[in-house]
This record gives sequence, C-alpha cells and structure tokens, in this order.
Amino acid sequence: MKIVVIGGSGLIGSKLVPKLRAQGHEAVPASPDSGVNTLTGKGLAEALKGASVVVDVSNSPDWEDAAVLNFFETSTRNLLNYESAAGVKHHVALSVVGTDRLSQSGYFRAKIAQEKLIKEGSIPYSIVHATQFFEFLKGLADISMDGGKAHLPPVLFQPMAADDVAAGVATVALARPVNGLVEIAGPEQFRVDELVRRRLATLNDSREVVADPEARYAGAKLDERTLLPGKNARLGETRFETWLTQPVAKAAAR
Ligand SMILES: NC(=O)c1ccc[n+]([C@@H]2O[C@H](COP(=O)([O-])OP(=O)(O)OC[C@H]3O[C@@H](n4cnc5c(N)ncnc54)[C@H](OP(=O)(O)O)[C@@H]3O)[C@@H](O)[C@H]2O)c1
Repeated sequence: MKIVVIGGSGLIGSKLVPKLRAQGHEAVPASPDSGVNTLTGKGLAEALKGASVVVDVSNSPDWEDAAVLNFFETSTRNLLNYESAAGVKHHVALSVVGTDRLSQSGYFRAKIAQEKLIKEGSIPYSIVHATQFFEFLKGLADISMDGGKAHLPPVLFQPMAADDVAAGVATVALARPVNGLVEIAGPEQFRVDELVRRRLATLNDSREVVADPEARYAGAKLDERTLLPGKNARLGETRFETWLTQPVAKAAAR
C-alpha cells in the first residue's frame, strides 16, 4: 500500500515512516521539507497520486490562537479535497486525549476544528487520540513559565513514549477505518508537576516546578482527570524509567 505521512519529518512522523516500511508498505514522508505544503496545497496532488492511506501527524509551527486555527482548518480542508480527488480510502489523524474537554485553549480549539472537518468529510477516517509524549515534558515546562518558574497543575496524566505513539498510529493506519476515535496512552499514571520536575532534573535543568492548581495547560483549566484516557485505551509498553535510559531521552531535549 502507498501511505503518505503528512508531517513525515516531525517527531512522530520520522518514527512512523520506518515502521510502515518495515511492514512492507510504500511510506512516503510529506512536508515542506520535501516540497509538500498542506497550507498552500503545493505538491499535494503529486504526493497523493496512487495513495490508499494518508496519515496526518503534522503540527502548526505557530501556536498563537488564530495561526494554529488557520493551520489545522486550512490544512485539513486541503488534504481532504486532494484525498477525494486522488481516491484515498482512509484518512488517519493524530490528536490528543481529552481534546474535546480542552476548548478553553486556542490550540485545542484548532484540534477540535480539525477533527470536526474530518468527521464531516467524505473520506473514511480514524482519529488517534494520544496522551502527552515523554519527549514533550520539557516543552510542558517551557509553555508554563511564570515569574521564572514552571507552574504546573498537580493533576493526573498518563504520558507515553513517541515511539509507542508511532507504533499505535501505524497499527491504526494499517487497519480498516473506524470512523471514530482510538485512544492510546502510556502504561502508568503520574501527576503532571511531579513528572515534569523529574524530567527537568534528568536534564540538569535547574528551573523550579511549582505545583499550582490554578495553572493552565495551553490555556485550559484542568481537573484531576481531564488528561486521562478512557478504559479502552491501547497502552504502550515503555515505562518512563525505561525511556529515560534510552538515547532518545538524552537527545530529546524538546
Ligand atoms: N506533544 C504532545 O505531547 C502531543 C500529544 C498527543 C498528540 N500530539 C499531536 O501530535 C501531532 C504531531 O506532533 P509532533 O510533535 O510529532 O510534531 P513536530 O515534531 O512539531 O512535527 C511537525 C511536522 O509538521 C510538518 N509541517 C509543518 N507545517 C506543515 C505544512 N504547512 N504542510 C505539511 N506539513 C507541515 C513539519 O514539517 P517540516 O519539518 O518540513 O517543517 C513536521 O514534519 C500534532 O498534531 C499534535 O497535536 C502531540
């Protein structure tokens, strides 16, 4: 099968492409890096020629409210139109566990808009909801800085390794469209502030992490269980302590 991976050069995309190839498929990474731009449509017709499946693991380079909304709406509209013309049979998109509960956030309003277009479109689809990536823990501190300290809510989450995210997305891409959601998550629950604190310590990052019940996540207020997946979530194998021993944990200072 020809499978086009939109965002194939990104964190998840670059792990997904080799996994699909290892299973004998023609996986084609597509992003501005390789001359394909979903915002403008440049290169899309050519990239999608003969494709059976399109997997969208792209992300907006700009997380400002209007910019991110424009990115996911315009990209998704373009993708679905070009997929329709090319006869694509399955559209797979990566989104975030709890997206529907996070509409106070501009970033998540954009993900909700992306998902709505997919659900209302004519291409059979599967939306994969993943929990936060271990690789993103430092990024969580970066977007939560206030007065020189990282303010994070002491709520539960169930983060996972990017490698397990890519494996989960590959499984969904190679199966029949579910025309709904599939949740994937890590094997263990933590408190957000606690795990970010541990991650910064492993990076010798001296920033203080404050457990702040009022702190928001990308602009959204969280309660104890907002970020947790449901009971049917498929769980990745990689535990946080195991991931820390992998070279990727040292390289992934994101
Ligand atoms: N961070 C988390 O914890 C988390 C959790 C669950 C789900 N997610 C979701 O996972 C997805 C992927 O995240 P990621 O961290 O892997 O992303 P990433 O590493 O930031 O990669 C973004 C990708 O999008 C591509 N891209 C940017 N602009 C594009 C455009 N105009 N046309 C086509 N491709 C474009 C980039 O291509 P170039 O390299 O060519 O610029 C790159 O390949 C996102 O949708 C995010 O919502 C994230």
